[in-house]
Amino acid sequence: MKKIAVFTSGGDSPGMNACIRAVVRAAIYHKIEVYGIRRGFEGMIEGDIEPMLTQSVANIIQRGGTILKTARSKEFMTPAGRKKAYKNLQKHGIEGLVCIGGNGSFTGALKLHEEYGIRCIGAPGTIDNDLYGTDFTIGFDTAVNTALDAIDRIRDTAESHNRTFFVEVMGRDAGFIALQVGIAGGAEAVFVPEVENHKDWIEQLFSKRKRKKSFSIIVVAEGEEEGGAMILAQKVKEKYPEIDPRVTILGHIQRGGTPSSFDRILASRMGVAAVEALLKGETNKAVGIVNNQETLTPFEDAISLKKDISQNLMRLVKILNV
Ligand code: F6P
Repeated sequence: MKKIAVFTSGGDSPGMNACIRAVVRAAIYHKIEVYGIRRGFEGMIEGDIEPMLTQSVANIIQRGGTILKTARSKEFMTPAGRKKAYKNLQKHGIEGLVCIGGNGSFTGALKLHEEYGIRCIGAPGTIDNDLYGTDFTIGFDTAVNTALDAIDRIRDTAESHNRTFFVEVMGRDAGFIALQVGIAGGAEAVFVPEVENHKDWIEQLFSKRKRKKSFSIIVVAEGEEEGGAMILAQKVKEKYPEIDPRVTILGHIQRGGTPSSFDRILASRMGVAAVEALLKGETNKAVGIVNNQETLTPFEDAISLKKDISQNLMRLVKILNV
């Protein structure tokens, strides 16, 4: 393999730049040419492809977002879109890809391999941490710390006013951010999509609150079953009109900012591992770090298997809120 390309795809996450840097430098270290594809599969279709040198990735390890930009491409889901993308890769002689992204991105890469034989290794980049085959995804740790910083601030005002706050964090299908932030932020309860809400949750939380707590923080994953923080707060107010909860939706703030040291190191390890896997002839696999060891997981598993939320941590939330 003489030429590879790297791209970022799907939602961005802090640490993607550190991963791009690692891919470029590992390729140069192993004496292969490396290209950058801008705007994920969109750029592949439009031929937005440039050679990358060691200086192209200078001074980016500390930056959030992705210098290559990212997109969610509808056209790439069609055979005609993939054909255009393949032609552009062929034009540059690109034989292998490193795809930094999540589920949808790995699905696209798999299709490209099935139809045109282009080899691809994935590096899991999403703040949601919902990819099977790795303990942590790039950006999760930073997003958790960003949300935690917000919660610490909300605590100050919650305590001053004796108020309950519902804080909604990202996680369309997964509660990893909510659970982590909930424990670290001393939340009274955590609502996640993976666990059914108790049918009496309002009574359980708010009769107890009336007894002992003057204020509280409740962390809610956006994808929880009842529809998110706004709806939960509304239900509380309907049942106990004397409680006047506030809602804060942290949203895309969680996706930006300087990556933590954990994410920079994770992303650097994954970038180098991805290039070295391609050089060993591997394809259609996602790199991961499991128990601090680099691993490879077939795309089919990374896409279809569900990473479980920790029941131990869910239990911890309960114990810490007696
Ligand atoms: O997948 C990461 C994620 O941040 C989810 O947590 C969130 O639901 C989604 O992306 C938001 O996507 P968009 O930026 O397209 O609104």
